[in-house]
Amino acid sequence: MLDNKGFDEWSKIYDEHVEEDKFPFIGYKKVLFSLLELVEPINDLKVLDVGIGTGGLAADLAKRGCLIYGIDFSAMMLKTAKTRIPNGNFNQVDVSKNYLGSFSNQKFDRIISSYFSHHLNTNQKIDFIQKAINQNLSIGGKIIIADIAFYSKNDFKNGQNIFSSSWDQDEYYLCYKTFSKLLNQEGINSKYNQISDCAGIMIIDKIYQGKSIKEYQASYNNPIKVIKGTKLNTTKKESEWPGWIWCTDSNNYEGWIPERYLQIENDMAISLRAYNAKELTITINEILHIYDEECGWFWCKNKNDEYGWIPKENIELKI
Ligand SMILES: C[S@@+](CC[C@H](N)C(=O)[O-])C[C@H]1O[C@@H](n2cnc3c(N)ncnc32)[C@H](O)[C@@H]1O
Repeated sequence: MLDNKGFDEWSKIYDEHVEEDKFPFIGYKKVLFSLLELVEPINDLKVLDVGIGTGGLAADLAKRGCLIYGIDFSAMMLKTAKTRIPNGNFNQVDVSKNYLGSFSNQKFDRIISSYFSHHLNTNQKIDFIQKAINQNLSIGGKIIIADIAFYSKNDFKNGQNIFSSSWDQDEYYLCYKTFSKLLNQEGINSKYNQISDCAGIMIIDKIYQGKSIKEYQASYNNPIKVIKGTKLNTTKKESEWPGWIWCTDSNNYEGWIPERYLQIENDMAISLRAYNAKELTITINEILHIYDEECGWFWCKNKNDEYGWIPKENIELKI
């Protein structure tokens, strides 16, 4: 396995190397694009890229408004990443020794990594994920790990045979089924998508619990629901919660949408990601699952599996 000096050397030709579309980088661009889509980039989304390398993916996220934090133990990889993302925040850290270094106490909306996790052995990977969930994920945050990976033990063995000439025995490629069982034993649920013949993406959400301390009555009967790319009309309207814009779609459905979910031009907007303005009516002392937080509101699920927004002040968060 390469040390940081080895990666310094590799940084000179890294971007050409990944273009070759050979193992372990078969489908590299598709993998990175799928990861970008899963991030659901919006303005001011705080994204930590671990093992950021030359920063190609993070630069695309920065263009979509994300605030980029990058970690790598190679000074030369970071040097290239910095030129691509002048407004990024960077930290030269060996993750296997010092976790996130000076970023260790920060919260992030997304903690992502691409083609990095195979540098950590199984215990180090689990340790990293546990720490990230407990210390560094915001409410609604996600860990998204893209890497050389196979779904089942059988797929892993097949991969080992097919790619035997380039398979590096010193690296820790992922067998998702085996790894997800270990995560499960630690109380961590995950999802997985196989993207190419040799790479997949693992997604881990952090779901908080809360209890309603004040009742809330949903305000709108037919709230607006949009998909990514929906065209909208926007209206300036007074609201006690800043950060929301009143939107109307082509079928005259209306509702508040977070401003950072929108690309706005004059009175028109395009949604940057899917959004549902549904609110949830609650009584006092209801136990709720909390999936997201936006400008003074939580996106929640009640015991009847109904979802909706509730003002934060009505909920006591269980940490
Ligand atoms: C194969 S490259 C992937 C780079 C980039 N994320 C991509 O998708 O192309 C792995 C990166 O992880 C970094 N890396 C490897 N081990 C590391 C460690 N223990 N701590 C921090 N960075 C590490 C390397 O310097 C390198 O930039």
